[in-house]
Amino acid sequence: MHNTLLLFGATGDLAQRYLFPSLLRLLGDGLLPEDFKVRAMALSGHDTAAFHAILGPRLKQAMPQAGEELVRSLLERVDYRSVDLRSPESIAAAVRELADRRCVSYLAIPPALYISTCRGLALGGALAAPHRLMLEKPIGHDSHSAREILDAIAELIDEERVFRLDHYLGKAAVQNLLALRFGNTLLEAVWNRNHIESVEILVAESEGVDGRNAYYARSGALRDMLQSHILQLLCLVAMEPPASLEADRIRDEKVKVLRALRPLDAAHAAHDSVRGRYTAGTINGEPVQGYQPPDDSGIETFVAVTAHIDNWRWAGVPFHLCTGKRMAERSTRIVVTLKPVTHWLFERPDRATATPNRLTFQLQPQENIELGLMSSLAGPEWGALELQPLELELSVPTGLHRRIAYERLLLDAFNGNPALFVRDDEVEAAWAWIDSVSDAWQQAQLPLQPYPAGSWGPEQARPFLPTAFEVGKHDGYRPA
Ligand code: BG6
Repeated sequence: MHNTLLLFGATGDLAQRYLFPSLLRLLGDGLLPEDFKVRAMALSGHDTAAFHAILGPRLKQAMPQAGEELVRSLLERVDYRSVDLRSPESIAAAVRELADRRCVSYLAIPPALYISTCRGLALGGALAAPHRLMLEKPIGHDSHSAREILDAIAELIDEERVFRLDHYLGKAAVQNLLALRFGNTLLEAVWNRNHIESVEILVAESEGVDGRNAYYARSGALRDMLQSHILQLLCLVAMEPPASLEADRIRDEKVKVLRALRPLDAAHAAHDSVRGRYTAGTINGEPVQGYQPPDDSGIETFVAVTAHIDNWRWAGVPFHLCTGKRMAERSTRIVVTLKPVTHWLFERPDRATATPNRLTFQLQPQENIELGLMSSLAGPEWGALELQPLELELSVPTGLHRRIAYERLLLDAFNGNPALFVRDDEVEAAWAWIDSVSDAWQQAQLPLQPYPAGSWGPEQARPFLPTAFEVGKHDGYRPA
C-alpha cells in the first residue's frame, strides 16, 4: 500500500471539506498504513503550524464525533509547503525529499495547472514508478485542452499509474447499479430497446453555485456535471456486460457507450436540449439569489439533453439527461420506463391511461429502488377487473455502512485498484460528445431559459423530466 499523499490544492474547498475528513475516517478505522504521511501544498505562505490551525477546526466540524486524539494523530502526519504551481522547480523542491517513499500525488487544483504541476513532480522524482497520480475532474475544458493535458501527462507517467477521479464512481449507490444490472436475471432480460421505452438520468441539486464563481463561470452545468458524473451514470446503465470485473474490461465497455453517442447538431439543438440559469427564488422556505456570472459569460446552471446511443441494444431509446443547481430538491435518480404491454385486456383504466412499468433507482439523498407495476383492486364494485398502479419499494437498509466516495477512492488509489477511475480514452470520448453539444448550442444560438431557484427548471425542460413533473410525486414545479 502506498504511504505518502502529496496533496496539491490543500487549502481549497475540496481538500478541506472532503479529502482531509476522508483521511480522518480512514485513519480512525485503521485503514491507513502505520507510516502514512501527507505533504499538503498550496500557494498560501503558511507554515505547518498555521496550516494545522486552519485544518484542525475544519476536521472537528466535518467529524464532530472524532476525538481530539484522532485529529491530533492525523495532524501529526501532515506537513505543509507553500508552492507556486506554475513553477516546476518550486514543486520539485517541495516533493524531492519524499521521492524515496511510495507517493500518490493528488491534484485538487484547476486543470490549467496540471501540466506544470506534473512536470514539477517528474523533476522531483515523484512520478517515476511506483509513484501514482490522482487527477480531479474536469480534465480540461474541451477535447482540445483535454488532449493537451492527456498527452503531456502521458510523457511523464504510464497510464496504469494515473487515477482520474469522478467521485460519483466512488459512491456505493452508483456501484450498486452494476450489481443490480449484472446480478439479476430479471433486469438483464428486459434491458434493451425491445422492452425499454426511455431512460431518465437526473442529478438535481438544491445548492447553488455559491463560492465557486471563478471555476463555474467558465464551466457551467454542461462541463461541470454532464461531461463527468452524468455520462458515467449513463455508461453504467447502458454498457454491455463486461467479461469480468477487471478494471479495463469495465472501462472497455464504458468507452463503447460514449463512442456510440450520436453527436448533437444545430438542427436538433432546440428539440433535444434545454439550457437554463436560475433566477432568485426560494429553497426550503428561504429566499435565495439568482446566479449572475462575473463577466456575464452566458453560462448555464441547468442542462437537459436527450442523448441517443446508436447501437443495437439502444437504437430508438431516448436517454433524457438532466442536471441543475438550485432545483426543487436534491435528488439523483435513474428512471427506466418500460414499454406498454403488447395487448391490453382491461377496461379500467383504458390503455391510454395505464401507467407503464417503471424502475426507479434513487441514488441520493437516500438510496432506494422502486418498481411501478399495475395490479388489480381487490373487489371493485362493478365486478370486472380494474387495475391500479402499485409501487414496490425496496429501501436499502440505512444501517449499512456506506463509505463516502472520497474515502473509497483514496483507498483504491493507495492500493492500486483502478476499477473506479476514468481511463484516458473515456475522457476523450466524453469530451467529443460534449463538444458536439456545445458547438450545436453555439450554431443554433440556443437561448438561456430562466428558472426560479427552487423549481424543477425551465418550463421547456418538462419533456426531459417526465417523472419530476408528475403531479403529487415531486411537487415543486413553478413556471419561470
Ligand atoms: C462536483 C461538481 O463534481 O459534484 C459540483 O463540481 C457538484 O458542482 C458536485 O455540486 C455534486 O456532487 P454530490 O456528491 O454532492 O452529488
